[in-house]
Amino acid sequence: MIQIDLENEEVMIEGPEGQERHALASREAFEIISDAWLRCGWDNKYVYSFTWLGRPVIQMPEDMLRIQEVIARVKPDLVIETGVAHGGSLVFYASLFKAMGRGRVIGIDVEIRPHNREAIESHELFPYITLFEGSSIEPSMVKEVSSQIHPGEKVLVILDSKHTKDHVLAELEAYAPMVTPDSYVIVEDGCMEMMAGAPRTEADWSWNNPIAAIEAFVASNPDFAIEEPEFAFNEGNVTKRVTYWPKGYVRRLR
Ligand SMILES: C[S@@+](CC[C@H](N)C(=O)[O-])C[C@H]1O[C@@H](n2cnc3c(N)ncnc32)[C@H](O)[C@@H]1O
Repeated sequence: MIQIDLENEEVMIEGPEGQERHALASREAFEIISDAWLRCGWDNKYVYSFTWLGRPVIQMPEDMLRIQEVIARVKPDLVIETGVAHGGSLVFYASLFKAMGRGRVIGIDVEIRPHNREAIESHELFPYITLFEGSSIEPSMVKEVSSQIHPGEKVLVILDSKHTKDHVLAELEAYAPMVTPDSYVIVEDGCMEMMAGAPRTEADWSWNNPIAAIEAFVASNPDFAIEEPEFAFNEGNVTKRVTYWPKGYVRRLR
């Protein structure tokens, strides 16, 4: 249980180790309230309320801002994203590439609904986007996507399709080798672990989730490590992302 006392400017949390009190101005209070806000946002389907340049994008705004910081630093020539849905995230990466004067994005989805395909293909940023329809882990799809990488291109991969442990692990095995050193494979929706038990979740989410896949992958692939990208700017007190992608940044070390 948490209590937020705005008058006395403190937050109280009742945990297994008893009651903790934190000043509202503390980093701890911010993290406690943020975790509660993420869970409340889940129950209210908050992420299903945003668009980017006209296309619905199913993401937390902070996650978009933070991934923008990473893309601005890494400057990939190619982003490969699994999981297209309405295409908002593809349009978002395309808009960054237009602004940066470099880069393009490949989107893969098992089903691109006709109205979504039409809207993406008629978008002014479609010249930056290539769509592939089919399962991301089909060997023929992996081969096709791999063949799109030009020699010397810097590649960043984003996994946002089916979020079961097995599927994400198969995607990591297939797509992480395409990532160039010092770039990332970014695995979305590790928040499933902390949402277990909430509405619209499955009983197995506590273990059958992207974080389980990430941990299994890095344990057997020493060229990759879970690594939080540093904030590009920080004059505040907060040092942790408020995110649906905990442990999601997997950097290729070499
Ligand atoms: C969470 S949505 C993607 C959201 C999108 N990236 C965004 O930010 O707006 C997940 C998508 O993954 C797709 N998907 C599910 N299983 C898949 C698979 N095996 N291969 C590729 N895509 C899959 C679904 O069709 C769905 O459109």
